[in-house]
This record gives sequence, C-alpha cells and structure tokens, in this order.
Amino acid sequence: MNWSEEWNSSIKHSSYLKILNDKGISNDDFWKQLNYYDEFMVYSRYPGKIMDRISLFLSSNDTVIDIGAGTGAFTIPISKIVNKIIALDPSPHQLNILKDKAKVAKCENISYSENEWKNVSIDQFGKIDYSLAAYSFFEDDICSFLEKSISVASKGIFLVFRAGRGDPLREYAYDTKNSVDFLHLYNILSEMGYLFNVEIFTSDYTLPLNFVYGSYPYTNKTEEEIFNYLSNNDRLVKQKDSYEVLCQRKDALLYLIK
Ligand SMILES: C[S@@+](CC[C@H](N)C(=O)[O-])C[C@H]1O[C@@H](n2cnc3c(N)ncnc32)[C@H](O)[C@@H]1O
Repeated sequence: MNWSEEWNSSIKHSSYLKILNDKGISNDDFWKQLNYYDEFMVYSRYPGKIMDRISLFLSSNDTVIDIGAGTGAFTIPISKIVNKIIALDPSPHQLNILKDKAKVAKCENISYSENEWKNVSIDQFGKIDYSLAAYSFFEDDICSFLEKSISVASKGIFLVFRAGRGDPLREYAYDTKNSVDFLHLYNILSEMGYLFNVEIFTSDYTLPLNFVYGSYPYTNKTEEEIFNYLSNNDRLVKQKDSYEVLCQRKDALLYLIK
C-alpha cells in the first residue's frame, strides 16, 4: 500500500475539496456558507478533551503555530496558556471569525497569517516550539505538508484527524466514501521516519434534526431521504415536538515530542 499516494488522491475525492471542484467555488466561499461550523463544534464538544491533553505539554514561554486554524477551536484556548500563537489559514472569512472571538476572549497574543501552509517560509515566524494541524491537511502533497509541520517546531507536533469513517450520514448525503483516516497519517509519518504517539477521543452527542438538515448545504438528498436514512439506522430520538439525532465523533490525536 502506498499510503501517501492513496491519501493524496482520496482527500481530493472525499473531503470538501471535492465540493470546491464540483461547484467551482473558492475555499473562502465554502467556509462563508458553512456558518454553522462553530455551533457544530459546541454540540460535538470539540476540541474538548483533545485540547485538555495538548495543554499538558504547553507552557507559558512557548510559541505555537496553528496550521489551518479555522475559527480558532485550538487557537483561542492555546493562546491562554502560551506566550504567543500564530493562526495560519488561507480563508479571510475564517480568520475574521477568529479575530472577533479573540477580541471577546481578550486574547492579545495571537498573530495572523492569511496563507496556505505550502506558501509560507518557515523562517518568517521566528522560533516556534510547537506546531498543530487539526483537520487542515488539504494540500496536494501530504508528505511536504507534514515534513514542514515537523521541521518548523523545535519541541513537538500535534496532528488531529478523524479515527474511522466519520459520520456515515455525510457519506450518504454527499455520495462519497471517507476512505482515509488517522491511520494513513500514522503510516505516512512512519514511512517518513517519524513514530508518532496516538490517542483516540470519542464523543457521543445529539444534534437537533433541523440543524442536521442545514449541515449539508450541497447535498442532492431531500430532507425526507435524510430523515428516512436516520430513521432506518435508529438514529432518531423523538422529543415533544421535534427530533434529536444520535451522533458520535472519534478524533485521533497524533503527537511527537522531540
Ligand atoms: C475543517 S477546518 C479546521 C479548523 C480548525 N483547525 C479546527 O480544528 O476546527 C479546515 C481549515 O483548514 C484551512 N485550510 C485549507 N487549506 C489549507 C492550507 N493549504 N493550509 C492551511 N490551512 C488550510 C481551511 O481554510 C479551514 O479553515
């Protein structure tokens, strides 16, 4: 099995990159329409215990770079622990949400880099102790992405990605198959000569059915088809005048302390 080749081709066909390609929209436009992302993180208690685990390694003198920081799931809590954090993301929309949240949370030690990871020089940031990339491995060459994430950090690297297929409803809604998970990253890294530690975090939660309907803006499935799919898979819980959907997420934390 060629892990990196399989990753590189699969990520184009199973992740949101497929939607960008099929619909001809930009990365920034995609995130603009995903305005429920933060609400979803609250429901699914992400990054929750993963963040607690990472925080055990960090100290108040450290500088961290969050690669593909998004709306700051990790940036905001990490900024409270360390001396400085750089939030890198190519989407101005995502970074604007993060900036607003940082203002509210009074985080003044965040600097922002509106860039793709492949387009920055690692020397431009000065000394970095830890790098973190969570669900942001969306470049054509995964090995270069990982090698750069490792070489930029003097103390350690944290990577977060799904364990298993993710929610099968997503595969149903978008007619895709999530064929890669953290094991691919683990194997690619070990072929590159890096033996990462792995910890798995499981979270069971429920989502309001209407929230689920709104979570797949690009699906061809009707609400009725989604309802039937969930019902056939015993994932609906009837409330007084609504439904809750049973969900589970499994995230893997891969980390290497130098
Ligand atoms: C699913 S979000 C994850 C955000 C955050 N890390 C989290 O865990 O919630 C993926 C983010 O990766 C960013 N991204 C996409 N391509 C990227 C690249 N080439 N370099 C860095 N970030 C990228 C997107 O703009 C988006 O904000």
